[in-house]
Amino acid sequence: MIVLAIETSCDETAAAVVARDGAATGRVLSNVVLSQLAEHRPFGGVVPEIAARSHLDHLDSLVQRALDEAGLGFDALDGVAATGGPGLIGGVFVGSMTAKAIAAARGLPFLAVNHLEGHALTARLTDGLAFPYLLLLVSGGHCQLVEVAGIGRYRRLGGTVDDAVGEAFDKTAKLLDLGYPGGPAVERAARGGDPRAVKLPRPMAGKPGCDFSFSGLKTAVRQARQQLALFDDQAAADLAASFQAAVADVLADRCGHALDSFAADTGQRGPLVVAGGVAANQVLRARLRHLSASQGTRLIAPPLDLCTDNAAMIGWAALERLALGLSDPLDFAPKPRWPLESLTGAADT
Ligand code: KG4
Ligand code: ZN
Repeated sequence: MIVLAIETSCDETAAAVVARDGAATGRVLSNVVLSQLAEHRPFGGVVPEIAARSHLDHLDSLVQRALDEAGLGFDALDGVAATGGPGLIGGVFVGSMTAKAIAAARGLPFLAVNHLEGHALTARLTDGLAFPYLLLLVSGGHCQLVEVAGIGRYRRLGGTVDDAVGEAFDKTAKLLDLGYPGGPAVERAARGGDPRAVKLPRPMAGKPGCDFSFSGLKTAVRQARQQLALFDDQAAADLAASFQAAVADVLADRCGHALDSFAADTGQRGPLVVAGGVAANQVLRARLRHLSASQGTRLIAPPLDLCTDNAAMIGWAALERLALGLSDPLDFAPKPRWPLESLTGAADT
């Protein structure tokens, strides 16, 4: 089975062609991403209206590129998928209307894929991972620990009570004048810094449960920045490294608790999967890999281009749903909010 997939829920316009051969192995035939970074950079963040217009301008040619790179035409497809939410609603409309139009014109099934499910199932595309597994989903808008029991079967163990972790990276980058987007800029700056240079809090660490909080850490970074007598590149690097170390400590602590809950529920300790844009961070990956090894399990982290937003993950989630006989009606309404736990799979639809 082969699907064309579209992702337009934030500031990347993306299209991919993905195939599924046999039981569970996936092949990415093409995966093209057009970043809108340059268009949003002057504003220091994503401007939803600019994002939607840019998706509209570029999506048709990007879909054509994805098909060309795969060496396929519309007639080779078994389905057309788009992110149906959650995300910036203007962009989600552009992507899902385009996918619906192709599906209607070609008489193909349409699939509205939950963006978070795309991130959640990527480890099955890259590593053929079996259910169940524990997922740490860390992106610009989301930060949660989820038990993944099957397609459409997700149980949230905990999540952030305030900011998402990617948001904390982006705000820290702004406070340290490191530019936009924040995550990669903080990681780069931190390479030249001392992670023990600035004492920062570890919000929630040591507390029961699997929730996160990042707003206090962000405030502490602001205060530390204000108290500096001299703010130069080294001071920014030290603060970036200290912030990143605090995030690593918090994520490791919370994942440790989640592995305990997961083991109690499922009788198996892990594996732990990390997904979402923040999962691109090498320091955080190393820390989670260390935690997993010390707990007798393994960490699965997709390659960087499949961690940040992309359409291949949407295509793979669509293939998993298609294989279960699932698709969506053409009157599907795009959803700005769409929690993972509200999804259903084959057994419960
Ligand atoms: O999954 P994603 O591409 O988009 C959302 O669905 O939100 O995640 C984007 C987030 C941004 O906050 C970005 O700063 C963060 O992921 N990010 C990183 C890194 N690369 C991207 N955070 C930390 N370190 C990185 N290397
Ligand atoms: Zn994402």
